[in-house]
Amino acid sequence: MKTHRIAAIPGDGIGPEVIGAGLEVLQAIAARDGNFQVEVTSFDWGSDYYRRHGVMMPADGLDRLRDLDAIYFGAVGDSAIPDHVTLWGLRLAICQGFDQYANVRPTRVLAGLRSPLRDCSPGELDWVIVRENSEGEYAGNGGRTHRGHPEEVATEVAIFTRSGIERIMRFAFAVAEARPRRHLTVVTKSNAQRHGMVLWDEVAAAVARSFPSVTWEKMLVDAMAARMVLQPAGIDTVVATNLHADILSDLAAALAGSIGVAPTANINPERRYPSMFEPIHGSAFDIVGKGIANPIGTFWTAVQMLEHLGEPAAASRLMTAIEAVTQAGIVTPDLGGTATTAQVKVAVCQAIAGRNQASQGEI
Ligand code: IPM
Ligand code: MG
Repeated sequence: MKTHRIAAIPGDGIGPEVIGAGLEVLQAIAARDGNFQVEVTSFDWGSDYYRRHGVMMPADGLDRLRDLDAIYFGAVGDSAIPDHVTLWGLRLAICQGFDQYANVRPTRVLAGLRSPLRDCSPGELDWVIVRENSEGEYAGNGGRTHRGHPEEVATEVAIFTRSGIERIMRFAFAVAEARPRRHLTVVTKSNAQRHGMVLWDEVAAAVARSFPSVTWEKMLVDAMAARMVLQPAGIDTVVATNLHADILSDLAAALAGSIGVAPTANINPERRYPSMFEPIHGSAFDIVGKGIANPIGTFWTAVQMLEHLGEPAAASRLMTAIEAVTQAGIVTPDLGGTATTAQVKVAVCQAIAGRNQASQGEI
């Protein structure tokens, strides 16, 4: 039997609640499948670790993850520690250290859920946003000088490299090519940003020539935001810079019903390093410990993880189980329901086993 060796990093806030539920669901899906097992190593890194040790993870943290097959990550962020410290100390350190340059964010109105868009019928909002995850506005390039003086200066330099753009464009065109509509929107802002974004457009056009079956278009990010609200059905696969996709993916998640369902995969496509799978939502301090965190984003990202690990049957069975449960209305308060995290988890585990009123027989 195959063994997939997974690192679990629950992290901060509601991270431990949703990752705890996610690990149980993963074990249930492995048991149901019968062809693989999941071996989990947990790491207590994050803001509590920082309070004890002064760092978010140990100096050899990446080495301890390096040989594992995937990373299942909860959330990072703490009300008492600056966000840039927690983020750069853990999540971005892993993304950048493991060159997880492709960030994949599927968005869909799941069965039984409602989009806040009045005229959006199910199936009209089914997108994959591919986010450049290694450079651009998140390159970390810049500095501050003359601190505290009136002439203080801070620079935050967006870095765009030809190789960085080319690899994310190739990845995005390949994602678009594998989807039924074979349509890619390249988001840009090359009207105002005349260096990095113009290179972005040029490389997109060059890469497009290798994917003749994909129809593609270029769209300015502000117009794209409006289009996502007004004409969601025309969109399929989207590629955007680190910051543009960060913003558009929150909009996408909200339009699909709740940020609580949205998953994300930080992928190193060459598989030189483990890839990392997480819900989009973050720490959510306001609901920590209440037992009502929505675990669906964490379950959906487990689907992405199973696909990445080469378990497509288990991945699609898990997705079917998730939607059987959302369809049955067993959802947390952020989706208008009354279920707890644990109740959603139990319902998904039962649906996996084919023992749920929510499921139509065997899944
Ligand atoms: C995301 C998050 C992060 C980001 C935050 C936590 C810095 O919003 O994954 O979208 O901006 O990348
Ligand atoms: Mg974000």
